[in-house]
Amino acid sequence: MKLKIFAAASLLCLGAAGAAEVAMAQEPQAVRQQMMKDVGRSMGALAAIAKGEKPYDAEVVRVSLTTISQVSKTFPDQFPAGSETGAETEASPKIWENTDDFRAKAAQLGKDVDATLAALPGDQAAVAAAIGPIGKNCGGCHETYRLKK
Ligand code: HEC
Repeated sequence: MKLKIFAAASLLCLGAAGAAEVAMAQEPQAVRQQMMKDVGRSMGALAAIAKGEKPYDAEVVRVSLTTISQVSKTFPDQFPAGSETGAETEASPKIWENTDDFRAKAAQLGKDVDATLAALPGDQAAVAAAIGPIGKNCGGCHETYRLKK
């Protein structure tokens, strides 16, 4: 009897561990959506400074640009075969048809952001001047590779 209870308890434990693992090993759709959310938040922080809604803060500028830079380099790896649909993805099938061009667009964003990081915008006007060219990359990729919902 005792043994049975023990067996049932350890089975329960196994079940719980299994569920936690599934939650941690996120699907690529969720990973890339979170990456883009972070990029969106970073652009929002930069835009707020550019518009004077928030005071210039070199640390916010640096962290925001660094986030966008990191995502630009890892984002294209989040589109393995089998992740074309599901999890409300807005990824266009064209990503898998024109992978090189898709990767080139992410690389261009990385190049532009890294150039901005190298000479960190030192005031509101410099942030405003920098986010225009960076922002062009967003629309330039979304136009082709993000489905409108
Ligand atoms: C190389 C292509 C590419 C570039 C460059 C790019 N995006 Fe995206 N973005 C995508 C794709 C593809 C999706 C849809 C991902 C999905 O749903 O699986 C997306 C989704 C998003 C989302 C929605 C995330 C969500 O699910 O809630 C936001 C916000 C976003 N992008 C912001 C930006 C901003 C801001 C920039 C520029 C700094 C940018 N993106 C640059 C391809 C790109």
